[in-house]
Amino acid sequence: MSLRVRLLISIALVLAFTLILGCGLIYWDALAKVDTEMTAALAVGLRTVQNATDDAEEAVNPLRQLELLVEDFNGNRHLRAFLMGNDGIEIDKSTLLIPSDPAPEWFNDLLQREPEDVHIFLPPPFARYGSIILSTDSHNEIDEVWNDFVITILTLALFCTLVLALVYFSLGAPMRLLDNMATAFKRVGDGDYRPRIRDKGPREVSILARRFNEMVARLAEIEHLNRRLQSQLATVQEEERVDLARDLHDEIGPLLFALNMDVSTLRLQDWTHSRERIISQLDAMSSAIGAIQSHVRSMLARLRPAVLLDLGLNHAVDNLVAFWSKRHEGISVRVELERESFGEKLDTTIYRIFQESLTNALRHGHPSLVEIKASGDEHGFLNVEVRDDGTGLATSDEDFGLGLTGMRERIESAGGSLVVGNRGDGQGVSVRARIPLPDCEEALAKEVVP
Ligand SMILES: Nc1ncnc2c1ncn2[C@@H]1O[C@H](COP(=O)(O)OP(=O)(O)OP(=O)(O)O)[C@@H](O)[C@H]1O
Ligand SMILES: [Mg+2]
Repeated sequence: MSLRVRLLISIALVLAFTLILGCGLIYWDALAKVDTEMTAALAVGLRTVQNATDDAEEAVNPLRQLELLVEDFNGNRHLRAFLMGNDGIEIDKSTLLIPSDPAPEWFNDLLQREPEDVHIFLPPPFARYGSIILSTDSHNEIDEVWNDFVITILTLALFCTLVLALVYFSLGAPMRLLDNMATAFKRVGDGDYRPRIRDKGPREVSILARRFNEMVARLAEIEHLNRRLQSQLATVQEEERVDLARDLHDEIGPLLFALNMDVSTLRLQDWTHSRERIISQLDAMSSAIGAIQSHVRSMLARLRPAVLLDLGLNHAVDNLVAFWSKRHEGISVRVELERESFGEKLDTTIYRIFQESLTNALRHGHPSLVEIKASGDEHGFLNVEVRDDGTGLATSDEDFGLGLTGMRERIESAGGSLVVGNRGDGQGVSVRARIPLPDCEEALAKEVVP
């Protein structure tokens, strides 16, 4: 059942209960009112009869006077007067007011009171003709109560209809928003980040719509970045292959060629007379093999740090530093690693931070000193820092490029945060990452938003 129907049913039930209670109260009040009215009408009737028969001695035509008295009660709402002869035969009687809007029979049956008859014995000379009987009749009072009841019920019914209509229309906008949001969520779930929801309407509704739109915009941004990173990754892989091919060709190729030459020369040597020459040629071959090994190692470092990380973080970082030191003479890199390893996953993250930060420093900052550090703190966090004394970030560098974006995403996916900025002392750049260590990660995972 929809929320709107549920609410309407609940309100309708409350109103119906109030209506029934109201009817009960009206009924008890009407019973009391009919009783009071009958008693009051009888009192007035008695006084009227008394006033008319008070000056009995002055009555010229007592019978006519009594008939006039009975006629006086014609059109009375609650009382009927009867003139009864002493022989018990009715001489005259008054008529009740005929109601213009009579109550239905069932309503009459509900409130009907037994008629009350009051027999009034008259003083002489009236007593000669008989006596007066006053009889109550509640029909007219019940008709009045019925008219009040109809007005009250109609007013209450109008009130209930207005309340229900108001609730129905007030819920229209939020319900439409929820419907739109469900459709939009479905599309977002299917990978379409274009849907946006109109953020007009009641405050809560517009806040919800705005937050949804912000979330979808952020997802679209991440998706866009992801695509860019993937295409960049493909390009980088292609460039890496070209680089490796060039390295193989330029570095390893000549060495293998030289080795081949040395082997051919050795084969043609006179082995008995030129021992020293042979030894020097073997030395040359051995140094060529050493050079090949070192090239293969540095290529491996670029291709698969995991291979190097198998030998330890220290070893991998040393390789990285050696790789760049060879290509940037005069640069000094200071390394401080608090532990041999921070866990397999974190070691790779640390290595990648060092790799990108060191590459950035050398590519963009031209520093003479780069300091790289990784250490744990007492709060259970790993702090990684790379500082250089190069030219620093220009103001136009406020937007991260793909390198720093990739680094930030890697760190955030490990639950950490990244700060990149110029160093306080006005020299170079500092890259600082703070990532929860595995034992601390467990504690953070238990944090539940209420
Ligand atoms: N250590 C640094 N010294 C000076 N400028 C830096 C340093 N690190 C980053 N920058 C600036 O920040 C920009 C963004 O760096 P980022 O690594 O994201 O991209 P990139 O190095 O230009 O390209 P790539 O995607 O290949 O890494 C750089 O272009 C550079 O201008
Ligand atoms: Mg970079």
